[in-house]
Amino acid sequence: MKLLIIVAGRKNGNSFQTMTHCLKSNNLSAVEYSIVDLSEKKIAYCDGCLSCDETGKCHIVDDMNAIVLNAKDSDAMAFFSPVRWSLLSGDLKVMLDRLNPLAASEELSGKKAVAICIGQTDVKDDVSISRALDSIRFFCENAGISFIGECAIGNCLESGDVCARESDLIKATETFKKLLQGEVI
Ligand SMILES: Cc1cc2nc3c(=O)[nH]c(=O)nc-3n(C[C@H](O)[C@H](O)[C@H](O)COP(=O)(O)O)c2cc1C
Repeated sequence: MKLLIIVAGRKNGNSFQTMTHCLKSNNLSAVEYSIVDLSEKKIAYCDGCLSCDETGKCHIVDDMNAIVLNAKDSDAMAFFSPVRWSLLSGDLKVMLDRLNPLAASEELSGKKAVAICIGQTDVKDDVSISRALDSIRFFCENAGISFIGECAIGNCLESGDVCARESDLIKATETFKKLLQGEVI
């Protein structure tokens, strides 16, 4: 199985650290995975020209071109994002917009995905993290991707706060593991 891992958020922040934990805690020996850290990428906004609806290609040349090829080739995707104003992070939104060439040509259909979102609020009394998860799930469902799991991690404001959230990290690991189920490991 080929797995594409997309991490948004601060460089080495809570999203990145959660992703690292999920990798460490799962046996990925039979999985070909790659990590795209959006903090290292230069991705222009989708300009909405819609030419990709006809051509299946984007006219913009930047770091997204390699990510599109990677996404096309992958069987599954894992998204790790901070919550920003009850939504997915801006860099992840820009990246998802730029996946439109694959969505329009239905080349994302049948792939599996999970999302793990991290925020500062407490999941018990605030909906912002679940709204962020919704925004990623809505993208997946609209793009024909089978959304098979999600995890909300709250009470994480400063970078590194997630390291103290042991039970949340276990939940994130279990969510990530859903992508591996049915794989020979
Ligand atoms: C502009 C901005 C908006 C934010 N909005 C929310 C929010 O709506 N809900 C929430 O729980 N946390 C919110 N946060 C807090 C971040 O989600 C939190 O600091 C998270 O741990 C950052 O993850 P990172 O270290 O991977 O970047 C916001 C942070 C920023 C910078």
